[in-house]
Amino acid sequence: MARAPARFVCQSCGASSGKWSGQCDACGQWNTITEEQAAAAVPRGLGGGKGRKVEFVGLTGPSAEMPRMVSGMMEFDRVCGGGMVPGSAILVGGDPGIGKSTLLLQAVGRLAMGTGCAYISGEESIDQVRMRARRLGLVESAVRLASATSVRDLVTTLDGRTPPGVVVIDSIQTMYVDNLDSAPGTVAQVRTSAQELIRLAKRRGFCLLLVGHVTKEGTIAGPRVLEHMVDTVLYFEGERGHQFRILRAIKNRFGPTDEIGVFEMTDRGLSEVANPSALFLTQRQGDVSGAAVFAGMEGSRPLLVEIQALVAPSALATPRRAVVGWDSGRLAMVIAVLEARCGVTLSGNDVYLNVAGGLRIAEPAADLAVATALLSAVADRPAPPKAVIFGEIGLSGEIRPVGQTDLRLKEAAKLGFGEAILPPRPRSQSGRDAGASGPISLTHIAHLRDLVELIGAPPSFPSGRTNAREAGFR
Ligand code: TYD
Ligand code: MG
Repeated sequence: MARAPARFVCQSCGASSGKWSGQCDACGQWNTITEEQAAAAVPRGLGGGKGRKVEFVGLTGPSAEMPRMVSGMMEFDRVCGGGMVPGSAILVGGDPGIGKSTLLLQAVGRLAMGTGCAYISGEESIDQVRMRARRLGLVESAVRLASATSVRDLVTTLDGRTPPGVVVIDSIQTMYVDNLDSAPGTVAQVRTSAQELIRLAKRRGFCLLLVGHVTKEGTIAGPRVLEHMVDTVLYFEGERGHQFRILRAIKNRFGPTDEIGVFEMTDRGLSEVANPSALFLTQRQGDVSGAAVFAGMEGSRPLLVEIQALVAPSALATPRRAVVGWDSGRLAMVIAVLEARCGVTLSGNDVYLNVAGGLRIAEPAADLAVATALLSAVADRPAPPKAVIFGEIGLSGEIRPVGQTDLRLKEAAKLGFGEAILPPRPRSQSGRDAGASGPISLTHIAHLRDLVELIGAPPSFPSGRTNAREAGFR
């Protein structure tokens, strides 16, 4: 039999080529290309066999309501779109050591009361998992535990008469298919193992939870190759030094994306955080300069976080701009708009921006809160301590409306904030008045210049328009 031609596959992006090279042409990474044997499944002469006819149906028709398996961990269930769907595959990605195994063991530990659950560990021994279960108070749980790495063994086992309702594979990088030559963890192994297991899950109707470690570049190894094969992709993230962890839905065929679940890592496992805003604001000191509270949205949920800025004279020719938890390109834009449209120059200063607590925010609505923190830092004057801020900044300095204003304001009121600085009301709603915002007094601003006036201009600000509203600020 002719040997299948060798293929060279980039372990970072999954691109394959006919020859080896030091750098991947597709993603530019170095030393990521390894030789892999093409999978044996070469399509057998498609021209020969006759296929079956495919039936077409209309878009409307009877369809069953999606059943859901609810673990009782509210934060986890919400991120899954209201519970896990039987027959679906969920990928849980995250840095090593962030708590993926803990999260899933806790989830199936609870779920096992009503549904058969299997936890298959390829990374840890039975004893290690048992020790963790003891620590999590799950020794009574009916989870079936196994230590295995061969996909062939797993398929044989799980294809038995009564398959479990939920199967956890921890992790997919340790699984291997024995008719492939490449080592476990390579793109070919990860892809083929996942494919086999997902096919079985669909056929037997159990929910498959795959743990995937994220590589340095931030993609799940066998990188993007897994994301399109599964129904749901969840990332478990958090800063090492911080206690809390965020589970984020990146893709979900059975529910909304952008949902987050917030957990706190304690010495007895992960505990759910029902009111994350309070958690993110616990360390807040009201009257320091360079801080602003952003009323953000994470999926369907409002979330208040503090944005902190530090502006210091720079000794460097190119001043430093360091950002934690936000997009550095967006920071550059806000700084440029402040300079070009409001005359606030930061070019001789280092700028540090931090989203307190280790949260990452992606919403453009944070622009205005960032600008407030920056202005407050340059002027060395605290921003209004009882105000939440949100709004998108356009390149001409105009403040653009953002969605979900009511939800943001409600959350702010719940946490005791009395003021909001926000974009002008959209014309369609101009008839409605601040009534909806309840106890919060609203300051609508139309241009970034208004914010400069509100905070009080920094000392270097061109004269004429100084500190107009300084009184309002203490
Ligand atoms: P783990 O779930 O093993 O991470 P992953 O599977 O993502 O690699 O989590 C390991 C970390 O969590 C480890 O540093 C210890 C910490 N941890 C606690 O703080 N409390 C606990 O109850 C448990 C089980 C783990
Ligand atoms: Mg683990």
